[in-house]
Amino acid sequence: MSYQDIERTIEFEFVRATENAALNTIKWLGRGEKEEADAAACDAIYGVFDTVPMRGAVVIGEGIKDNAPGIFLGDRLGTWADGSPCFDIALDPIDGTTNVGKGLPNAISVISASQRPDADSPAMINIPSFYVEKLAYGPRVVEAMAAHPHHPVSLDAPVYELLKFVAGALRKRVPELVVATIDRPRSALIIEQVRRAGSALRMISDGDVTAAVAPSLADSGVDLFYGIGGAPEGILTASALKCLGGDIQLRMWFKDEQQWADTARGSSAAELRRVFFSGDLVPGKSAIFCATGITDSALLPGVKLIGETATTHSILMRAKSRTVRYIRAAHNLKEKTIRLRSDRTFHTVI
Ligand code: FBP
Repeated sequence: MSYQDIERTIEFEFVRATENAALNTIKWLGRGEKEEADAAACDAIYGVFDTVPMRGAVVIGEGIKDNAPGIFLGDRLGTWADGSPCFDIALDPIDGTTNVGKGLPNAISVISASQRPDADSPAMINIPSFYVEKLAYGPRVVEAMAAHPHHPVSLDAPVYELLKFVAGALRKRVPELVVATIDRPRSALIIEQVRRAGSALRMISDGDVTAAVAPSLADSGVDLFYGIGGAPEGILTASALKCLGGDIQLRMWFKDEQQWADTARGSSAAELRRVFFSGDLVPGKSAIFCATGITDSALLPGVKLIGETATTHSILMRAKSRTVRYIRAAHNLKEKTIRLRSDRTFHTVI
């Protein structure tokens, strides 16, 4: 790492982007218009990056299901000035759009970036399926895995064995473990097995990036994430865990024959069954992860409006330095303006 490392300065523009996305979204809290909220977050993110000297290629954008104005695969962030640094970008302007529409917890704005080692080597790998199985754990579990090569931390291991191992790594008993999952019928088997093992479950309705990063943060109250959720969110999580020393295992999961057929075309059985770790998904040394809370989650508090101040909470981290910054910002609403891409002018927050 050198002091000239461009990541050291450019990472703060990422915080401006997710902060502005969160601030521009709060007027849509609980209003049942999740697409409007998503559009507002995208507009603010573009508005910030339009002035940032970098060449950001979106390699992982919003899922097709959003069917809304968004920032998608192939879109560009930054000024793209000649000579400016190249980043692969993964982002979800709002992870938890439904939560924002309903005013529920677990919504964040999240961006991750990785510098390409060279023009031909991708810095982030996209998984083509819509859903993936996800097993995410923190650094102490990673250490225990390294010390016990025959460990049961795997998507195929019996859940009780997995939980017993994780509990041992965290110096807890199985009933003291908290396992987060996304509450969907497709998670039924995981839910049943965790309950049978006797660990506590935290079932979230949406927004699984927060829940899957949480086991890698001390005092988050979540010890393990095990569930089936969106593939893009899995790659964002992988980038965060690369910075935190935790890890995630991902494997493609198909809702039905149609999804299987759409994705399976051209892929071998081995590719479709492959288990990806964070180092497979974000292979280089470089990873920046940045998120701002929109509503409260295990990862971050949401935006708070008190009088003429809006307070935001963000997390900003880099894999190279492993520095984890929590940034609590007080925005003076009389002065604060947000630049939007849609009209290229500055707007007040509310
Ligand atoms: P968006 O807010 O970006 O739509 O994603 C929310 C989310 O809950 C993700 O966190 C999760 O991975 C995915 O949707 C689950 O998909 P589905 O709602 O189709 O089960």
